[in-house]
Amino acid sequence: MMKYIIFITLLLSVTPEAAHGLHGPHELAVDAAQWALEGHSHERYLARTFFGGDVSYAPEKVSCPEEKEWLWTADKLAKGEKAFLEKREKVVKIAVEKMMNQHELPVPPRTPVIGYAISGGGYRSMITGLGGMMGMTKESPEAVKAGTGGWSDAITYMAGLSGGSWATGSWIANNGMLPTDLLKQVWDLKSNLIYPDNDKFFFYSNLIGQVDAKREAGFPTQLSDYWALALSEQLLPKAYRLKGHPDLTMSQLPSIVKRLGEGDLPMPIIVASQREEGEYVVAQNSTVWEFTPYSFGSWAFGSKKKVPGGFTPIEYLGTRLNDGKVNGTCYKGIDRLGYIMGTSATLFNGLLLELNSTNSNSIIVKAIKDMLYEIGKDRFDVSRIPNPFKGWSAQENPIKEFEYLTLVDAGETDQNLPLEPLLVPERKVDAIIAFDASRQTITSWPNGSSIHTTFNRACILHERDDTQIKMPEVPTSNGFINGRLNTRPTFFGCEDQTTPLIVYIPQYPWTYYSNKSTFQLEYDDHSSLETMLNGMRSLTLNNTVPTWPRCLSCALTDRSFSYTSHNRSDVCAQCFKTFCWDGKNDDSTPKHGYSPVMGVPDWLEDMHLAKNHSIGGKDGTDGWKDEIKAGLSEGGLKDWATEVVKKVGKKMGVI
Ligand SMILES: *[C@@H]1O[C@H](CO)[C@@H](O)[C@H](O)[C@H]1NC(C)=O
Ligand SMILES: *[C@@H]1O[C@H](CO)[C@@H](O)[C@H](O)[C@H]1NC(C)=O
Ligand SMILES: *[C@@H]1O[C@H](CO)[C@@H](O)[C@H](O)[C@H]1NC(C)=O
Ligand SMILES: *[C@@H]1O[C@H](CO)[C@@H](O)[C@H](O)[C@H]1NC(C)=O
Ligand SMILES: *[C@@H]1O[C@H](CO)[C@@H](O)[C@H](O)[C@H]1NC(C)=O
Ligand SMILES: *[C@@H]1O[C@H](CO)[C@@H](O)[C@H](O)[C@H]1NC(C)=O
Ligand SMILES: *[C@@H]1O[C@H](CO)[C@@H](O)[C@H](O)[C@H]1NC(C)=O
Ligand SMILES: *[C@@H]1O[C@H](CO)[C@@H](O)[C@H](O)[C@H]1NC(C)=O
Repeated sequence: MMKYIIFITLLLSVTPEAAHGLHGPHELAVDAAQWALEGHSHERYLARTFFGGDVSYAPEKVSCPEEKEWLWTADKLAKGEKAFLEKREKVVKIAVEKMMNQHELPVPPRTPVIGYAISGGGYRSMITGLGGMMGMTKESPEAVKAGTGGWSDAITYMAGLSGGSWATGSWIANNGMLPTDLLKQVWDLKSNLIYPDNDKFFFYSNLIGQVDAKREAGFPTQLSDYWALALSEQLLPKAYRLKGHPDLTMSQLPSIVKRLGEGDLPMPIIVASQREEGEYVVAQNSTVWEFTPYSFGSWAFGSKKKVPGGFTPIEYLGTRLNDGKVNGTCYKGIDRLGYIMGTSATLFNGLLLELNSTNSNSIIVKAIKDMLYEIGKDRFDVSRIPNPFKGWSAQENPIKEFEYLTLVDAGETDQNLPLEPLLVPERKVDAIIAFDASRQTITSWPNGSSIHTTFNRACILHERDDTQIKMPEVPTSNGFINGRLNTRPTFFGCEDQTTPLIVYIPQYPWTYYSNKSTFQLEYDDHSSLETMLNGMRSLTLNNTVPTWPRCLSCALTDRSFSYTSHNRSDVCAQCFKTFCWDGKNDDSTPKHGYSPVMGVPDWLEDMHLAKNHSIGGKDGTDGWKDEIKAGLSEGGLKDWATEVVKKVGKKMGVI
């Protein structure tokens, strides 16, 4: 109450016209918010205090811990990760036994380490990628019926990039709930991500105020911060949104999400790439950074040449270190989960950028324009964090001089699947389920190019710098399309025991044309559900292939049997004959454009793998024509972003 009175006084004294014509608390609040948006950061600070004093997005100063291993060389796992693995192994062991028994296969002598990786691709990837995860949960009756439900309990790592990081972050933060329940109970995909319909003034004043608070605490802020908070508003549990306290951090996840703390959920890993000012970075020379609940770092540093990387405890990320030493001032809280999800997806900052070119004088657009003016054109798609490895002299260190690390969406280098954290020798991953919902063909389906980019990079880094990325060989995107490998699950690395085995799962139109634009940020209930179910069916094969659940089980456990082609069980050998890439790479330009028709993929029919009653008579609807009519097939970022801004801006009366 006290605050209220002070604030009204403030309003009257500073902007008499803003107080004019106030009737009720709602109008007052709206005007106050409006006034705060127009004002400078100090007034916004007062307004923020008025609205509840919540500055929880900003990192907070804490006392420095006495003994802390601030940095370590990238040749071992974080202590927290090791402790997690011990707990997780117990859960995985039971799940593996259960699944192997169910499919009448022997139980492997050693518990496998399995990773699940979700590609970038905005909401499309987020929704379909979690659909894929749902296809392995025992809570989904459809997945259980299809014979694949239950494997999610055997997954140790869940890696996400860009849109895939939203899936990873949101699913874990929401206690690993059934993804379709996430759609119904938590996500609000009908309301546009950037321009929420309701409470826009509160939303924006609070959002801008929170970012101001971070800047006032001495940290650089970027579009990613605004984007991060908008994203959190849709995807994080309600308590951690702007109206609550937007302070959920990645490092808190194991203590806040009980199931994660107990090893009952996979460990999330979120990746981003580095691109310093003026640099042009491609997959071969990018540095891949990873955020986990325990550490932040990279397995290999440097753009021109790779040297062994390093890690730091993520909890204290933001603390200024010099040669691995603190100066007496420590910070916590730069690792807000929303910020990390935004950092992995900086490509989407471009959507906010579009507001800069509108003529609107509305307060919201004006406030964002002010901020864009400061940021400038070149740097819109970055996230900057204090460089913990500054001055680190324990080893060769090409990033020694940087005050900040500049991170971008790793999708920008076409390494659109976050495989790398799962390919490092230290994690000893046996199998990776790579769920690919990239938009690569003209018709917005994946064509294998991301996984090939990672293979290519691994070869170059191995030859040039002797960096170990244990990536099995995969064909080129032409090879993928010609071999129809992008229409159905394919196993890679079947006979290469030195790498994890990759189970590649492309999204395919089984029951829905889920090839939506990456920048579609509004989904109605029907399309989000159908998109998710289609993602699930890309993994379960819609229960049409009787051998599939058993073959998936063979793939996930092959390495823990140490099988070779000489002693693999007959059942699994048969599976490998069917699902492994045969090593042929027809790199000629595909004769026909790739335009799959909804239904069972031709390859499964031609190989006589699909149940006879489910083949033929493709559903063949032309559902996708509706999508085109709805204008969703539009291409690049700019066009689409402009459309979004215009459409939603108009609806809100902003533009
Ligand atoms: C990365 O590689 C590309 C292509 O070879 C090159 O043009 C670019 O300068 C390199 N960037 C850095 C930072 O080394
Ligand atoms: C220590 O670092 C903080 C930034 O984290 C800075 O504000 C402070 O001035 C530094 N203190 C000393 C004694 O250098
Ligand atoms: C926004 O527009 C202003 C000019 O109106 C320009 O100076 C600024 O660089 C732009 N910012 C971005 C991020 O495009
Ligand atoms: C596959 O996708 C990549 C990236 O979008 C593109 O450059 C390439 O031309 C595509 N190849 C085919 C065969 O579709
Ligand atoms: C299969 O053969 C390999 C190599 O000889 C051996 O290491 C492995 O233990 C064998 N696995 C089984 C299950 O017999
Ligand atoms: C998918 O499964 C459902 C339920 O069994 C069935 O009705 C539908 O025809 C199937 N579609 C395809 C393409 O397999
Ligand atoms: C479908 O029928 C063909 C020919 O009769 C047979 O060879 C094949 O095994 C059948 N497929 C399945 C999955 O039952
Ligand atoms: C989705 O895929 C179908 C064919 O599979 C294609 O005709 C349609 O244009 C695609 N939609 C988009 C948005 O690319």
